Formats: sequence, C-alpha cells, structure tokens
Amino acid sequence: MGEIIVIASGKGGTGKTTVTVNLAIALCKKNKKVLIIDCDCGMRGSDLMLGLDKNLVYDTSDVIAGNCFTEDAIYPYQNVKGLYLMPAPINPEDEIAPQVMKQFTDTVKNSYDYILIDSPAGIGSSFTTAVVPANRAFIVTNTEPISIRGAINVRHALLKNGKKDIRLIINRFNEKKFRELNIYKDLDEIIDLCQTQLIGIVPDDYQLVCFSQSGKPSLNTSPSSEAFSKIADRILGKNVQLAFPKKMK
Ligand SMILES: Nc1ncnc2c1ncn2[C@@H]1O[C@H](COP(=O)(O)OP(=O)(O)O)[C@@H](O)[C@H]1O
Ligand SMILES: [Mg+2]
Repeated sequence: MGEIIVIASGKGGTGKTTVTVNLAIALCKKNKKVLIIDCDCGMRGSDLMLGLDKNLVYDTSDVIAGNCFTEDAIYPYQNVKGLYLMPAPINPEDEIAPQVMKQFTDTVKNSYDYILIDSPAGIGSSFTTAVVPANRAFIVTNTEPISIRGAINVRHALLKNGKKDIRLIINRFNEKKFRELNIYKDLDEIIDLCQTQLIGIVPDDYQLVCFSQSGKPSLNTSPSSEAFSKIADRILGKNVQLAFPKKMK
C-alpha cells in the first residue's frame, strides 16, 4: 500500500516544493513509483520545477468535477522513470475539500509506492486538504526564527489533525551563515524547539536552485542530491547516518 507523506512548513518559501520534487526523484532513483500531488491550489509550482507546465490540460479539480478521468490529470515526468505529477488547480476557487481529497487519494494510493503531497504555506483550509490524506508529515524549516516559528505552528496543526508521524527537514543549511547569524548554539537547539525528530539536512545549494528552477531537477548531482538520497534511504527504512556537519556535532 502506498505511503502518503505531506511536506509542510507553515511559512512560505522554506523549500517545500523543492524538497517534494527532489525527494520524489531520489525515491524514483531507488526504483520506487512516486506520485506528487500538488496541493498548493492557486500557487502551484511543482509543474514548473519539473518542466511540465506547458503540457498541462487537467488538474485535480477536473478529476473531482468529472471533467476527465484520473489518469488524464496524472502526468509522467519523462526524465525519471516512475515519477508522476498531479497538478493543483490553477484557480484558487477550485480548492478541494479535505474529505474529497482523502477519498481521491484512497482511489490512487495502491498504484504507487509513495505519494508526496506538496502543501501550501499557512495552516488554513488548503493546508488541511493537503494534510488529511497523509500518514506521515515532513516539516521543512530553515534556520531562521521566523521559519522555526512556522515549523512549531505547523507541528501543532499537524497534531490537531491527528498526524503523529512527523519528521523535520532542515533546508538551505549553510554553516558559515548559521554561525554568523549567531542566534542558535547548534542544530540540536533548533530540533529541540521544533520538538520533532530530524530526518535530514539539505545544504543551501545554488546548483539545486539552477536545476530546479529550469525544470531539470533530475540533472542535479551537487551535494544536495546526496542529502535527498539519504532522506530517501531513511524513508525506505535504511539505517543511514544523518549528514550532520562534522564541526557542529
Ligand atoms: N536547499 C536549497 N538551497 C538553495 N535554495 C533553495 C533550497 N531549497 C529551496 N531553495 C529556494 O528557495 C526558494 C523557495 O523554494 P520553494 O521550494 O518554492 O519553497 P516553498 O514551496 O516552501 O514556497 C526558491 O527560490 C528555491 O529555489
Ligand atoms: Mg511551494
């Protein structure tokens, strides 16, 4: 049965879409079949990141409204075997209700090893839609106080929605900048504040941005791709060491 993981953060711009897309690719490279459901209604971005934006005709709202078959709104990503995308509605008024999304994911989850749900910023109704079908949640945070506040708030919202299996991803980590900022002693302090077990650290990586923003994330071979590969291994239950920066241990 497919595992459904929602990628959330509270604050916008922490890297949810980047993490969703690159983690999905990392899982596919380990021979898994993965569906990304973009739940960022009105602000979808994963189609752009996968370079699929020009091919899209249907989205989740068309399936729900009966305008097309489910498979018409699921787009294969040609560059990576096993990766599929279901785009979010482009129109904010086409937001899907949480229970409808749950019913929909129930019908497709057995066709995939993993479904990754890219959630919107905030903890409003569209966040609930993204969260309700999931059996796991990853919170993406940066190392700035506003991002950490978002992570704490989103954790409360996840717990309120009955989600107990929650992990933390620290994204855009740059040790030099972290030291210069000098707000937190070490990453443990951030993990403690978020009260969430860490599953991975993704470096601040301009190469990742270049590949992701140009619709070619599968070509990235920089250190961030290794970080995503390690998180994928941990999702698969492998005992892989966390890539903690040595000096910060
Ligand atoms: N690990 C990273 N290193 C450098 N830039 C990143 C990283 N992750 C995300 N970004 C950049 O941060 C910005 C926001 O990322 P995005 O994935 O769109 O965030 P969200 O979906 O949370 O709004 C983008 O410009 C993206 O390229
Ligand atoms: Mg996004």
